Amino acid sequence: MPTASATTYNNYVDGSWVPSASGHTFENRNPANTDDLIGVFQQSTAADVDAAIAAAAKAYEPWRLVPAPLRAEILFRAAQLIVERKEQYARDMTREMGKVLNETRGDVQEAIDMTFYMAGEGRRMFGQTVPSELRNKFAMSVRQPLGVSSIITPWNFPMAIPSWKIIPALVCGNTVVFKPSSNTPLSALNFVQVLIDAGVPPGVVNMVTGDADVGTAMTTDPRVRVVSFTGSTTVGRIVNQAAASTFKKVHLEMGGKNVVMIMDDANLELAVDGCLWGGFGTTGQRCTAASRVVVHDKVYKKFVEAFVARTKTLVVGDGLDAKTDVGPSNSEAQLRTVMKYVQIGKDEGAALATGGRRLESGACAKGYFHEPTVFVDVDPKMRIAREEIFGPVVSVMRCSSLDEAIAIGNGVEYGLSASVYTQDINRAFQAMRDLYTGIFYVNAPTIGAEVHLPFGGTKNTGNGHREAGVAALEVFSEWKSIYIDFSGRLQRAQIDTEQL
Ligand code: UN1
Repeated sequence: MPTASATTYNNYVDGSWVPSASGHTFENRNPANTDDLIGVFQQSTAADVDAAIAAAAKAYEPWRLVPAPLRAEILFRAAQLIVERKEQYARDMTREMGKVLNETRGDVQEAIDMTFYMAGEGRRMFGQTVPSELRNKFAMSVRQPLGVSSIITPWNFPMAIPSWKIIPALVCGNTVVFKPSSNTPLSALNFVQVLIDAGVPPGVVNMVTGDADVGTAMTTDPRVRVVSFTGSTTVGRIVNQAAASTFKKVHLEMGGKNVVMIMDDANLELAVDGCLWGGFGTTGQRCTAASRVVVHDKVYKKFVEAFVARTKTLVVGDGLDAKTDVGPSNSEAQLRTVMKYVQIGKDEGAALATGGRRLESGACAKGYFHEPTVFVDVDPKMRIAREEIFGPVVSVMRCSSLDEAIAIGNGVEYGLSASVYTQDINRAFQAMRDLYTGIFYVNAPTIGAEVHLPFGGTKNTGNGHREAGVAALEVFSEWKSIYIDFSGRLQRAQIDTEQL
């Protein structure tokens, strides 16, 4: 039950903060210290979503007719406001999500970068003008918005990922119904507050907090034209199926099992740095996390020794403490998943080189902490080498050639990010070409995507769309091809042919 002192936060619908019609709420607690109650949020239902969609549908007509550069002016103001509030928002985020302060600052920065970048699209959003096959006829294509967009986001990047979706939706002229993860609703609310303060009109952005009931209503309502979802592959499949019967455009970003390939000519120190950051940054809770490392036989022993030794030095604790390298898992459920996979790895016969236990004493007594964990001599067929764990667990495997590393890299059902460490440009280019992923790095870990390039993956990671970069416009706009005949007579395409 909520304590008397906890702030209660409402949904944002049609320009007002309102409680859920359900009368129910849920608690948001700090994963580093579950005594710390951050706030109480609305446990919404389909009735709340209905009101939000109605508001978004009503606001769509006037909003789509606001010139894109004017829509963008509001977004530029929003970006500036996030700059001013960055430190507070980062602290709020560490408190509810758990990752260390430097990383939550990075998350807020990613939202700033995306908002400035996408606001710039207000003066671009290029279409094409092309020659017509007929005389005195003009041909062009323009982007048009779709209408109401449903945006469903996860807890691991609680401000960056909402910005990747909401800002391009808005600049293109859509209106939004937004459901953030129930584990990180405060960062979502902070982001919505910025949009309100920047001048986004009532009804254009609506936020409804809650769980599956909310998501189901947002993905089945016929008034919704586009759904953008980031989360697990399991839920993504449900979203896709729910949205199919009304033919919504669906953009999905889901799981990952990303690989770092380390060749015998690699700069090993650099590779160790990269694997630590890629594997244990964000406590391994990135869809881009470097959860698999494939190392050439000739340098395997040396790499493993250095990597395990460095892993042992990582400090686990509260992300607000400047000494902490690795924060908690975001929730009890996430921690349980980590522990389950550690057991699976042991049962499968992988060698546990370090870590493997929950931390429950001292500063870790009240949170969801787990030791950074490295399994070595892992067989690519093992579940810990194929399934997403989303925690501080790295599986190290051997290979005897680049070809073998690439085969292992591609041998999973996901295809988000991959990387190779080598000094040989030929190997780098071969790996870059042959890894079937949406993102690839040379001499860097699998995390660290920038906002102005397309983001997303292949196979069970995504459904072919990309977000971020100019690719985001493909999700949130549709093409209209326009022909203007100024001949003053009927010209029939493909039939009236002209002789030179
Ligand atoms: C995610 O893991 O869900 O490239 C997003 C990165 C970050 C975004 C990660 N810029 O790791």
